[in-house]
This record gives sequence, C-alpha cells and structure tokens, in this order.
Amino acid sequence: MTGLQHCLTDLAERGMLRTLREIETAQGPRVKIAGQELLLLCSNNYLGLANHPALIEAACKATTDFGAGSGASRLISGSMSLHHRLEERIADFKGTEAALVFNSGYAANNGIIQGLLGPEDTVFSDSLNHASIIDGCRLSGAQILVYPHNDMLALEQLLEHAGKERQGRWLIVTDGVFSMDGDLAPLDKLVDLKERFDAWLMVDDAHGGGVLGEHGRGTAEYFHCLEKIDLQMGTFGKAFGSFGAYLAAGREIIETLINRSRSFIFSTSLPPGVLGANLAAIDLVDGVEGRRRRSRLAANRQLFGHLLAEAGLDLCGSNSQIVPVMIGDPEPTMSATEKLFSAGIFLSGIRPPTVPPGTCRLRATLMADHTPYELRQAAQLLISVVRGEQL
Ligand SMILES: Cc1ncc(COP(=O)(O)O)c(C=O)c1O
Repeated sequence: MTGLQHCLTDLAERGMLRTLREIETAQGPRVKIAGQELLLLCSNNYLGLANHPALIEAACKATTDFGAGSGASRLISGSMSLHHRLEERIADFKGTEAALVFNSGYAANNGIIQGLLGPEDTVFSDSLNHASIIDGCRLSGAQILVYPHNDMLALEQLLEHAGKERQGRWLIVTDGVFSMDGDLAPLDKLVDLKERFDAWLMVDDAHGGGVLGEHGRGTAEYFHCLEKIDLQMGTFGKAFGSFGAYLAAGREIIETLINRSRSFIFSTSLPPGVLGANLAAIDLVDGVEGRRRRSRLAANRQLFGHLLAEAGLDLCGSNSQIVPVMIGDPEPTMSATEKLFSAGIFLSGIRPPTVPPGTCRLRATLMADHTPYELRQAAQLLISVVRGEQL
C-alpha cells in the first residue's frame, strides 16, 4: 500500500491530474496527435529552428565526427572541444569574458545559484520566478527574500531593510521574460538597484534569448544593458531550437562554478550532436535569418495579441510571444483546452503549482512559422471558448 493511487485519484477529482500527450511529428506549427492534425500553440520553438536543416545537419556532423555520447562529466573526461567552442561562441555572442554550458536550464539555475551562494548570503527573488530558480535558491542555503512581481519599489525597500545588517553576497535574480505571464522584467531599473546596493544581477533569459533585441541577445539587449548583467543565463531548448543551457559571465564566476556547481560537476556533459546544433543555432539567431524570423514572430504576436485584447480577454500583462488568457479555476481551464483540442488547436492549460491558485490560464505560445490565417482562426476559436459559445 503506497497510497499513491489515492493521491492520483485526489488530483483527478480536483481537476489537477497531469497526463502526457504523445506527439507523432516534429515541433512544427502543425503536429499530429493520435492521427489528428492540430495547430501547435504551446511549443517554445519560437523561431521554428527545432526542425531547421542547418541544425539537423550540424547535429549529424558532430555526431559523425565525435560520436553519440560525451562519455563523462566535464571534470572527468567529458570536456570535448565542441563544449569549448560553444562556450567561446556564447561569450562572444553575449559580450562576456567567459561562459559555461549546463545540461538544461533547470540544471543551470540549480547549479549557478547553489554554486555561488551559501548560508551567509542573500538572494532577492521575484515572486514569479521559474521553479528552477526557486529550487536553486533553496539548494544554496542562502537567505531568500521574495519581492512582489516586478515591484521595484518593494524590492528597493527590501534591499534597504536588508542592508541594515548586511553580510555576505547579494544576488538579485529574475526571469527576463516571465514564462507564465509573458511580461518582461524591468532590467533597466533592476540594473540601477543592483548598482546602488552593490548586488549581482542574474537574468534567466530562457524565453527572451533569440527573440528579443536586434541580434536576439535577449531581454538585456532589448533594454540596452547587456554589459551590466553580471550573470546572463540562457537556454537552447526554446528559441534556439535545440537543448541545454549556459551562463555567460566573468571568468571568476565561471571558474568558481566549475569548482562548486553540483549540477555541472556531477552529471555527464551534453553530447556532441546537441553541441553541434547549439553552435549552428547561435549562428542563425545572430544572422539575417534570425532577424527575419524575429520580425515574423513579432508580427504574429501583434496580430494575435490585438485580436484577443480587442475581444476583452485578460492577457495577464503579456507583451511577448507568450500569450496567457486568464481563466481562474482548474476545471474551466482544462475543459477549455479540451474543447480547443477537439477543434484542432493544441495549447496548454496551466494550473498550480505552476501558477498561484485561482490564476489558472490558457497559455498560447507563438512561432515565427504560424501564418496570419492560422492565428486568426485560432484567436476566433479561443475567444468563443472563453465566452462559452458553442464551437
Ligand atoms: C524561465 C525558465 N527558466 C528555466 C527553464 C528550464 O529550462 P530547460 O527546459 O532547459 O530545463 C524554463 C523551462 O521551461 C523556463 O521557462
């Protein structure tokens, strides 16, 4: 008797049970599920690079040249020339002294915060930061002070108050683009505060990287403060179309993490195919094609957001390619996703613990490859479902 079935039944009764949907095709704008073709409105493949021939070719070549696996953790024998090439390319792209590759964004946030902070330090964390940041803060043992979402006045007061008995290092940490609300952190204001209070500023740009800024360098490029961000964390699994993550930062920080970050030290490193794809993805994002795809994505966001806002839907303050529609309770949220699914639209219903109770939402994510026609149709269906109309 493990009691697990009871837990599962309880989750189901509260409309909170999660299950997996098997997708039979690649992450394009349309996918097949159980033989049915659907418009994919919940992938983070924002620029459509996950199936790009240049990434596929680079992954195949790296696999042919270096094999399928990396064989060990980086500190044992798994530090291959492709890891070093990728880190040089990231540092160049982000304008930092150095960079370090992690196996995923989750592993990066865990390992960066744990590796740099200890019980004598303090971290100031936005209330809507991603779960991997929260877990990293907890793992570090540092004092955690949570400020209300994007509330710079509250953060300033927290910093002032904490300053009275200051000890250890201070880190302010925020998502660049918030994953469930789709709004941006005010990095210009955060830079002012971190300078005034002599703290590090860490930005998790999982959703801003590749998408924001003229060259796709992310939220900090958008706010023209790239060189002021002490710790620039980003991922390859979203706009970059591949997998893995990185920290771009000063050399001392990177060398410290090589020595202290548990998720870096105690895990087999990324395999050659993934590293090859990541290198190709940065080249695309940084070039003409990246610019073209970013502007298509921005036009799609403009169209889709405009249609939903005009219909009076609550978009949670989103101003990015992540477009949530607030519903409230789990049951109507999940019933709306099912209705949309039957009508050929695949988007996710988001429930606690991913978002606070009472703020369940439908979360649409847009791609550069969606056509205006597809998005108009999807917006119409979404509006009808939220209004409770018959489809
Ligand atoms: C803001 C944010 N940070 C980190 C992560 C984790 O990244 P990864 O999927 O590479 O583990 C995610 C992923 O969903 C995210 O949304």
